[in-house]
Parts: sequence; structure tokens; C-alpha cells
Amino acid sequence: MGREISVIAGPSSVDLATKVASCLDADLLSVDFRIFKDGETKINMSKPFGKNCVLIQSTYPPTDRHLLQALMMLKKCSDSSADIVAVVPYMAYSRQDRQFLEGEVVSMAIVARLFECVGTRRLITVDIHSPASLSYFSIDARNLSATGLLAKYAITNLKTSRPVVVSPDKGGAKRAMEFARILKADMFTLSKRRDMQTTEVFVEKQKLNFDIAGRDVIIIDDMISTGESIVKASEFLIEANPNNIYAMCTHAVMIEDAPKKIEAAGVKEIISTNSIPSATAKVDLSSVISREVASIIEQAAI
Ligand code: R5P
Repeated sequence: MGREISVIAGPSSVDLATKVASCLDADLLSVDFRIFKDGETKINMSKPFGKNCVLIQSTYPPTDRHLLQALMMLKKCSDSSADIVAVVPYMAYSRQDRQFLEGEVVSMAIVARLFECVGTRRLITVDIHSPASLSYFSIDARNLSATGLLAKYAITNLKTSRPVVVSPDKGGAKRAMEFARILKADMFTLSKRRDMQTTEVFVEKQKLNFDIAGRDVIIIDDMISTGESIVKASEFLIEANPNNIYAMCTHAVMIEDAPKKIEAAGVKEIISTNSIPSATAKVDLSSVISREVASIIEQAAI
């Protein structure tokens, strides 16, 4: 594209950064870092980076460590007066986007401020949990969708028969609708409730819009964390005798034994993007990220 770009691979996103650098035909810079015995990170960014920098660091668990590393690296870049685009494929704390219970801190608002405090002016994330989360940024913060890539993967690889797309809750209905539109599939939404004190998930019993017996079901969500939402959805759906059940998501946070629990609940396969590296990360985000980065850099140069 004629402009020198350095892609800086944050410690949490080396693989994705390598792919983005390759798409952009950019230099790939690694970051030297050390984790001390007390858990603190020391970052060293002595390698020279160009004027246009893209820093990629996803903030999956250990969340606070990855978040602080992102902030440290961004501060270093902005101090060097590089034009930096921060790419945070999985934005931690985006589910804490409002006060659910009296006295709760709206963590997302603070995280957004922290990115701004270290000099970030442009930020890209992917399938952030809610529009409310994005609204806390007063910088150029863009939210990309992985729905098209996930749908393309499903069409090419799952070979489903008369698939039915399911959103585990109303909040994810729009995403599931778009996914179903691309697959030309039927779609419906479950009614999920989470106990805000215990975090336990309940799926309300409901009459299904149509018969799913013998049909493949794809449950699609923005993220799988404890796996409870997918487990409860699958347990409910299985009573209607579907063929295979698949779980697809953008961010496979996968706390502890989430994959095992999901499998035990009848899900044949879990598929996620590489916003978080894992065994389920079969959908590569580098094409959508590099396209957006290239457009930001081009616009900035005008
Ligand atoms: C919630 O509204 C989200 O869209 C996900 O459904 C939820 O965060 C998944 O979390 P878990 O796997 O812990 O149920």
C-alpha cells in the first residue's frame, strides 16, 4: 500500500499479529517482555518502529495482565510519536457496560478511559459485547464484525443439513439473524436469564417456532466464557431431537472446563475466531482487521 507499517505483536496475540503483518505486507515486531515472580510484567520495546504502527493485543485471561501490557505498549508507542492503531480483538470488561446491581463499578467506562490516557487515538476491536461498551470511547473506536467470516466457515466446513440458527439470548438476536441470512437458514432466539447474584444461567421453557427434529443446529454467540449459556441452550434444544448441535462464537474465553461441559451437554463442535488463541480458533480474523487498518492509515494520510 506504499506506506511503511510496523505491526507490533503484543504477547497475547503473536499468531494473529503475524497473519495481519503478512496481509499488510508490513514489518512484524515482537516485544521483549518478562513476567516477574510477583506477576508484574516488564516490557522492552527497544526495536525501532515506523511512523505507522499497529499494535495487536487481545485482553483475554489473564485479563488484567494482558490489559496492562496493552496499555504499557501503547504508552511507549505514543511517547515515540508514532501514529498508532490499537487492535484489541477481544475487549475485556465489555460485559460490565452498566450498573446491574446497586454500587457496581461500570468497569468498561474505566477501561475506555485508560486506553485514552495512554495516548490511543484509534482503536479497533471485534464484536464488542454491546453498543454501550463502545460508547464509552471518545476516540475513533471501531467495532468489526466476525459474523460474515463465521458464516462462511459454517457454509464451507460444517456441511449442515437444513441448519437452524439459534441465539442463546435476545441480546445476540441481531447477530444470529445476520448469520442466518448468510446461511439462508431458519433462526430463532432463546430466552435466557442470568441470576446477577450467583451468575447462574436459566433458559426459559418455550415452544419452538418450528420442528428442529433431525436438523442441524448452530448456536451463535459473541463469546463463550464459563460455557453456561451454551450448556443450558444445548440441554434445552436437545429435547427437540435435533441432528448435530454446533456452538460458534467470536471469542472463546473458555474458563476452566468449559469445553468439556459444552461437549457433555451434546455439542458436537465448538468453533471460534482467533481473537483468542485456542484449539477452537478455526476462523482467522486477519483479513477483516488488515482491511480496516489499511483504510484507517490511508484516511489519516489524506
Ligand atoms: C452474554 O450476554 C453474552 O452474550 C454471552 O452469552 C455470555 O457472556 C457467555 O458467557 P458464559 O459462557 O459464561 O455463559
